[in-house]
Amino acid sequence: MQSEIIQRAEITCFKTKPKNFFPLSWYKKMLEEEPILYHAGTDTWNVFRYNDVKRVLSDYELSSSKRTRTITNVGFSDLIQAVFEGEKFTDEEIVRMTMFLLGAGIETTSHLLASSFYSLLYDDPELYQELRSNINLVPLFVEEMLRYRFHISKMDRTVKEDNHVLGVHMKKGDVVIAWMSASNMDKNVFEDPFTLNIHRENNNRHQTFAMGRISASGHL
Ligand code: HEM
Repeated sequence: MQSEIIQRAEITCFKTKPKNFFPLSWYKKMLEEEPILYHAGTDTWNVFRYNDVKRVLSDYELSSSKRTRTITNVGFSDLIQAVFEGEKFTDEEIVRMTMFLLGAGIETTSHLLASSFYSLLYDDPELYQELRSNINLVPLFVEEMLRYRFHISKMDRTVKEDNHVLGVHMKKGDVVIAWMSASNMDKNVFEDPFTLNIHRENNNRHQTFAMGRISASGHL
């Protein structure tokens, strides 16, 4: 029964190579051995360590998003009224953004719920009783679930200008992939990171919502 649960979890985590790819072991290896990796197959830079991920996601000089319009902290009715660079959004743009908001909101939160159930069933069944006996612990549980078992594993950014910021030569236009799910396991930031522990004091420093100029609207 237990091995069936593990298999299913691995399959839902990653669509590729479900049978022999173990994300957590891979993150561990990358964090220790190849924290900045150029991958020729996808023509991308991949960064894994906490501070590098932070830099890539938040440093405007290093990277820029491909997106030209950002929507943060808006309700649907605001989209109709909004003026961006002197223009209102077209009907098509409003429909597209609404679909995006619904997708972004539904997929993320349903995955968080599913991961949380999985963790209570498999990672630490006793935690369920602990939460039941002290409801005030639930926010700590949510932060730890976002750090430890969240499915948005990475975000990409495009390099704005040639630079050596991360100690390698990146060219303007290169794509950098910031692996937040690996950086959330960086032992320089989180003690014993591969263990589920809602009482770790800095769990809320996870990078699951990304950061910087563009960040998750659901985090607001
Ligand atoms: C567990 C919950 C959620 C997580 C972990 C999450 C995570 C993320 C991440 C990592 C990004 C990309 C940020 C970046 O590129 O730097 C993002 C963007 C975004 N998220 Fe979420 N999200 C969550 C919930 C939601 C919800 C509930 C909504 C809306 C109802 C939402 C709407 C958006 C939007 C609109 C963007 C794009 C922001 C922009 O481009 O300016 N998210 N989210």
